[in-house]
Amino acid sequence: MSIQIGHIKTRNKVFLAPMSGITDLPFRQIAHEHGAGLVISEMIASKELARSRADMVRKTRKDNISPFVIQLSGREQHWMAEGAKVAQDLGCDAIDINMGCPARQVTGSLSGSALMRNLDHAISLVEATVEASSVPVTLKMRLGWDEETINAPELAKRAEDAGVQLITVHGRTRCQFYKGKADWQAIAAVKEQISIPLIANGDGNSIDDVKQMMKLSGADGVMVGRGAYGRPWFIGELAEQLDKGTGTARKTIQQQMTLYIEHYQLMMSFHGTQFGVRIARKHLGWMITRLLEQKAIAPNIAKEIQTKLMRANEASLALSHLAELEKIVQGTQTRCAA
Ligand SMILES: Cc1cc2nc3c(=O)[nH]c(=O)nc-3n(C[C@H](O)[C@H](O)[C@H](O)COP(=O)(O)O)c2cc1C
Repeated sequence: MSIQIGHIKTRNKVFLAPMSGITDLPFRQIAHEHGAGLVISEMIASKELARSRADMVRKTRKDNISPFVIQLSGREQHWMAEGAKVAQDLGCDAIDINMGCPARQVTGSLSGSALMRNLDHAISLVEATVEASSVPVTLKMRLGWDEETINAPELAKRAEDAGVQLITVHGRTRCQFYKGKADWQAIAAVKEQISIPLIANGDGNSIDDVKQMMKLSGADGVMVGRGAYGRPWFIGELAEQLDKGTGTARKTIQQQMTLYIEHYQLMMSFHGTQFGVRIARKHLGWMITRLLEQKAIAPNIAKEIQTKLMRANEASLALSHLAELEKIVQGTQTRCAA
């Protein structure tokens, strides 16, 4: 079941969250190819995009992904409008505004979740973005700045009045950063204020979480971020389980290994091998964690392979370690099946 955002339709109700430094083009491609309902770029500084800074433009690559959303951050109406125009020229299907980022370098420059401290200013940015856009504009926020100022319902309502067509709420305040547990129930107060679709976010790590998030928040869909670490295809699996029941097929370990190798190769071609080898390390670390969770490898072997992968300075060497891991994992699967 899809969600309508203005004139665009998502593929289903489970979206990949934007995550700077993680959801780059290779990650998004695998998530999309394997059934994510919607994928969003990493946060892009509107001013830098408007000035066509090469690294920002690269982060907006859409390739075969559709629908594709570009997320803009910023604090000035002029640059939000200019950034929105460039984002559209780059072919995005919708623009998301970031009012949720808690990082000090972002809130310090009065962007991200700092905008929740001044709703008049936040709405002026929404208005400027909507005015400059022919594609739908969406908004991602937290519950508020801190526990004393939970204003997501008010911001959401005012944003809808200003033309926003979908709201995502991460069930934490800015001051919580990523601590504690996301409050899914608190997101329900936003649902009461708006008639556009609402997406709940925060701590969705399993199909049971996703169902509970939707139940408690009353949201129309969910967005999953860290739950997809080391498994970009997980978003699509959640969507299928939500639609067709928990009995639907999950990727086998062999299929996962094939995807890990594909993901590695995509990272090398997108980032180039010099940077790519370093960028890939965190993903390889999460891969090992996921394989351990599924008992696909023994802890001592995992440690040995992880050390080799982290030390590999050449893509070809890392790929040969991945091929070795694939064989080990195949052996484990065969032994378990016997
Ligand atoms: C490493 C990292 C980078 C993030 N970058 C962004 C970003 O660029 N834009 C954004 O709106 N949220 C960003 N977030 C927040 C996530 O989109 C999401 O709201 C948050 O992680 C909670 O969802 P989760 O528990 O499913 O991960 C980031 C989170 C993490 C962990």
